[in-house]
Amino acid sequence: MSSHSASSDRTVVDTVPLAQKAKEVADLFNLPEGYLQKAVDEYIAQSVEGLASDSSRTMPMIPSYVSHSPTGNERGVLIALDLGGTNFRVCAITLEGQSKFKLVQEKCNVPNVYTTGSLKDFISFLADCIEKFLVKEHPEHVEQAKTGSGDKLRAGFTFSFPLNQTSANNGTLIRWTKGYDIPEAVGKDIPQILQKELDDRNLNLYIAAVVNDTVGTLLARAYTKPQNTGPTIVGAIFGTGTNGAYAEPLAEVTKFNRSMHPNIVDDDMVINTEWGSFDNDLKILPNTKYDALLNSNTHNKDYHMFEKRVSGMFLGELLRLVLVDLYEQGYLFTTKDAKAHLTKDSKLYTPWSLDTSTPAIFHADTSSDLVSSRVEFEEKFGFVPTFEELEAIKLISVAIGTRSAHLSAVPIAGALIQTKALEKYETVDIGIDGTVYELYPNFHDMIVDALEQTSLGKEGTKKITMGIAKDGSGVGAALCALDTKVSCD
Ligand code: BGC
Repeated sequence: MSSHSASSDRTVVDTVPLAQKAKEVADLFNLPEGYLQKAVDEYIAQSVEGLASDSSRTMPMIPSYVSHSPTGNERGVLIALDLGGTNFRVCAITLEGQSKFKLVQEKCNVPNVYTTGSLKDFISFLADCIEKFLVKEHPEHVEQAKTGSGDKLRAGFTFSFPLNQTSANNGTLIRWTKGYDIPEAVGKDIPQILQKELDDRNLNLYIAAVVNDTVGTLLARAYTKPQNTGPTIVGAIFGTGTNGAYAEPLAEVTKFNRSMHPNIVDDDMVINTEWGSFDNDLKILPNTKYDALLNSNTHNKDYHMFEKRVSGMFLGELLRLVLVDLYEQGYLFTTKDAKAHLTKDSKLYTPWSLDTSTPAIFHADTSSDLVSSRVEFEEKFGFVPTFEELEAIKLISVAIGTRSAHLSAVPIAGALIQTKALEKYETVDIGIDGTVYELYPNFHDMIVDALEQTSLGKEGTKKITMGIAKDGSGVGAALCALDTKVSCD
């Protein structure tokens, strides 16, 4: 495109060909040589800061009141309440020992009216889902509860947002993430508010533990992982949001006043890092103009800056912002047909209209005619772009996805280096859950590539196994709710 194309009404001065422009944009997302280890060093420095004190800008590094790793032999029947980014699941989990469990679940999609409405409606919505589940799966329990008889069922509540825990089943909300915005909930003890609602409904359910999904994933992976792998050091989520948990000696958690917790006998505690908030002040994270624009359109502006470059809620939106920009500069979609479709109420102009599956489909498409990319594009936007346009979108999708996976390696390497895990064990294990890790093409391999580029090197990276902890958050919450040594207060 050396000048403006005849059919377009946008004026482009001094343009370069589309392929070249796409490469320039893709390059904005590429991490420079040597970047990853610098980012790991910064990650470790910021974690140490977060372990020492709480400030609104640092990584929260939240003590979880969970210490022991499960052995795989735990047994019991528990309820897990699992609030993630998109769904609320209620599960009955039977831990059978020998690393086995059975799970019966009901999934409720949380509609936007509740994620951005009043706290009362939100809590009622959660309690409705729980009540429906109990009536269906444990009718005898509900009947007994009505007459005041029967034992309380124990529940673990996975709450996948930053909660400043003050005990195993108390915690105040630090801030919302992943598009949730119920301002009156910030600073409130969410598990206790839910407990009160359950008590008011006479459901005889006791929330024995509140856990972050990463803590649940860490425990669930330790419970279910293959016997021949090393200890599980990190539980990580790469899904709608991203975060990780690992065990830290309490002596290093200098902000934690141990004398206030005489019941805690263990020397280590699992820390919910909330690494989504790594580098909120952008000391090291890349910040393209698209990242800046995306951030300005979020409820939690200037927070969770790492998450906004990595997790599933954001990758489709980043791509959309690039496409809008290239369209408005006259590089993309210059035909009459395209323009007729790209009205202000089209998907292109609707914030958050693309999810991560769009860049994922482009990224995965290795066919010479980019057929699945074309089908995906036409389905989303209602017209067929040119082959050159598809190629340009693919290049940019690959850059956005690769940056996400490479950045994902930073906190994993950081936690392994910080805990000296590779010096202590021959092999170490990472438990992971989340749709991006599971479904984004080559996400695992791209993380491995990036780990190799850190000081762990190829040799260190070889000693790491990574595995899915499917249903990790639910199983982990159940393990924490057991009346055993897993939870420590
Ligand atoms: C939340 C974390 C959660 C992560 C993954 C983030 O937005 O702040 O608490 O663990 O998403 O679900």
